[in-house]
Amino acid sequence: MLDVLGNLERTHSCGELRESNVGETVVLMGWVAKKRDFGIFTFIDLRDRDGVTQIVVSEETAKEAHAKAKNLRGEYVVAVKGEVVSRDEGTHNAKLATGDIEVKVGELFILNDAKTLPFQLEVAGSENLASEDTRLKFRYLDLRRPQLQQNIRMRARAVGKIREYMDGLDFIEIETPILLKSTPEGARDFIVPSRIHTSKFFALPQSPQILKQLCMISGFDKYYQIARCFRDEDLRADRQPEFTQLDVEMSFANQEMVYRVIEGMFGSVFRLIGVELPGQFPRLTYAEAMRRYGSDKPDLRFEMELQDLSGNFADTDFAPFASILANKGEIKALVVKGKADYSRKVTDDLQEFVKRYGATGLAWIKVGDEITSSLLKVLGEAKIAELASSVNAEKGDLVLIVAGKKSVVAASLGALRIEVAKRENLIDRTAYKPLLVTEFPMFEYDEETGNYAAAHHPFTSPMDEDLELFKRAIETDERELFGQIRAKAYDAVINGYECAGGSIRIHQKEIQALNFKALGLSPEVARERFGFFLDALEFGTPPHGGFAAGIERTCMILCGTENIRDVMAFPKTASAQDLMMDSPGEVDDAQLKELGIKIVE
Ligand code: AMO
Repeated sequence: MLDVLGNLERTHSCGELRESNVGETVVLMGWVAKKRDFGIFTFIDLRDRDGVTQIVVSEETAKEAHAKAKNLRGEYVVAVKGEVVSRDEGTHNAKLATGDIEVKVGELFILNDAKTLPFQLEVAGSENLASEDTRLKFRYLDLRRPQLQQNIRMRARAVGKIREYMDGLDFIEIETPILLKSTPEGARDFIVPSRIHTSKFFALPQSPQILKQLCMISGFDKYYQIARCFRDEDLRADRQPEFTQLDVEMSFANQEMVYRVIEGMFGSVFRLIGVELPGQFPRLTYAEAMRRYGSDKPDLRFEMELQDLSGNFADTDFAPFASILANKGEIKALVVKGKADYSRKVTDDLQEFVKRYGATGLAWIKVGDEITSSLLKVLGEAKIAELASSVNAEKGDLVLIVAGKKSVVAASLGALRIEVAKRENLIDRTAYKPLLVTEFPMFEYDEETGNYAAAHHPFTSPMDEDLELFKRAIETDERELFGQIRAKAYDAVINGYECAGGSIRIHQKEIQALNFKALGLSPEVARERFGFFLDALEFGTPPHGGFAAGIERTCMILCGTENIRDVMAFPKTASAQDLMMDSPGEVDDAQLKELGIKIVE
C-alpha cells in the first residue's frame, strides 16, 4: 500500500544536512540506495541528486515507520520526516558530505515501489559496472548513478558559463533551423524526407556554418549559438552522430580576435573545476605540431617528442631506408626513457600497434649494458650507437623507430607516443594543457579519390601570405602546389582533444569561386549546392570568421572521462543506435507511402 505525498514538502536535499542542522525537524525525499536491517533499528541510505543521507528508523520511537521500513527495497521512493541528530562517536562517515549526521525518523511515507533493477547502481570501481549496453538500454536508471548525475550537471554549468561569457562580450544568441539543406563539413548528411514535396529531402545541419556566415551578411556582427549538429560518420570514443557545439561567428575579425574569444571562453569554463588556463594559449603551427608530435592535436601533458633520423641515413646502403628517403619519406624516432628492458613481446605488441596506422614495421634500439637493436645486423654497431646518440638516448632508454611515408610516420609515431605514455603512466592527470594549432593546410589530399578536399571547409580563407600561390596553383591547376597552401584555419586543443576548430572565411566571391574550382566543384554544382550563399556574398559581405567548440569534448575533460557518452544524457552507441528507444526503427508502410518511399531489400 503506497502512501500519498499530500501537502508534505521537502525541507532539504539528501546532500545538504550538516552538524549545524542538528536538532532541526526535516523532511527528505529520495530513493532507497541501501537498507540495513538491524532488528529494532533499520538504516536507510536515502539518495537524491545532491547526495546521500543516513536515515535511522527505530522500532521503539517510530513503530509504524519501522514496520514500513522493513518492507523497503532498493530504489523505492520514500519521504521521511524526522530529527537531525549527530552520529554516535566512531560512526561518522568521512566519505559522505552528510556523514556527521543522520536523520532519526518519526514518519516514513512510501511514495512508490520499484522492481529489482536490471543492474546494480552502486558498485566499487567503474570496472565493475554492468555492461555498457545494458546500462544504455536502461539509461534513465544509469543516470541515477552519482557520477553521471555530476557529469550532466557539470555540462549544464559549463553551458551556463559559456552563455554568460558570450553574452558578456555582446554576442547575440541566434537559433538556426534543423531542417536544412546539405552543409559543408564533409561528413555524410542525415536526411529527412519531405511529405509535402515528395522525393525531396531536407538535410540535418552538420553545423550551422553557412547560416552563421549569413548572419554576418545580415549585419548581426557577433553571433553565437549552442547548436545541435548531425554527422553520419564513423564513430570514435570522442565522436557522436549527434553532438553540440558552441558555434561562434564575428564580423570584422582577424585571427587574433577570434583566438581571444576562444581563450577567454575556455578560461571561464575551466574555472568551474578550479583550473586557471593560461590567458594566452601556447601556439604551434600545424607543420610544427606534425613534425614534433606527429599529430595536429598533440597532448602536451608529457614530452617525448618525435625526433628525425632521416639525416643519419642520407647516404645509407640499407636499401629499404634509402628507397623511403628517395621517395620523400622519412625516418623518425621516439625515445622512451628508462624502458630498455622492454621484452621482445612488448616491442612486438607495439609493432602490431603501429601497423594499424600503416607502418610496415617498428625498429628498436635498447641502450642497456650493451646496445642491442633490431637493426644491429643490417646497420652494424657503430651506426646503431650513432643513432642512439643522435636522439640523446641515455643508458636505460629505448628508441622506437618508424620509417615510411611522411603521413604514415606521423600517424604511427603520433599514436605510439600516446600509447606508450598511457602504458607507462607518463600523463599527468592533474594537468590541463591547451594550445592553438594554427596555419592548417588549405587542402588535404584524399588518397582514395585522388582529389584534394577542403581541410577545414570550403569557406575557409587562404593565408594572405599564400594568396598568390593559391591563385596561381588553381588557375594553372598545378596540383603539387595545393599541399603547400596554408589556410587561416585553427584548432584549440586541450589535453590531446580537438576541442574547437574554426577559420577566417572567404568573403569575396572571386576567391570563393576559385576555391570551389580547386575542390572540383563545377560552377553548376557549386550553384546547385550553395547558390543562395554565392548570391549572398555579392551584397556587401563583411570580412568575418569564427569557430565552433565541441561541448561534449570540453565536458569530457572537465569531468575527467574518455568516454563521450559519460557527458551526454541520452547518447548513441558506437554503432549509432539508441538502445533504450531502439532507434533507428522501422516506420509504417502508410508513412512510407505518404513520403513516396519504397524500401529496397
Ligand atoms: P569542426 O567540424 O571542426 O568545425 O567542429 C568543431 C568542433 O566540434 C566538435 N566535433 C564533434 N564532437 C563530437 N562528435 C562529433 N562527431 C564531432 N565533430 C566535431 C569538435 C570540433 O573541434 N563549422 C565549423 C566551425 C567553424 O569553422 O567555425 C565546424 O563545425 O570539438
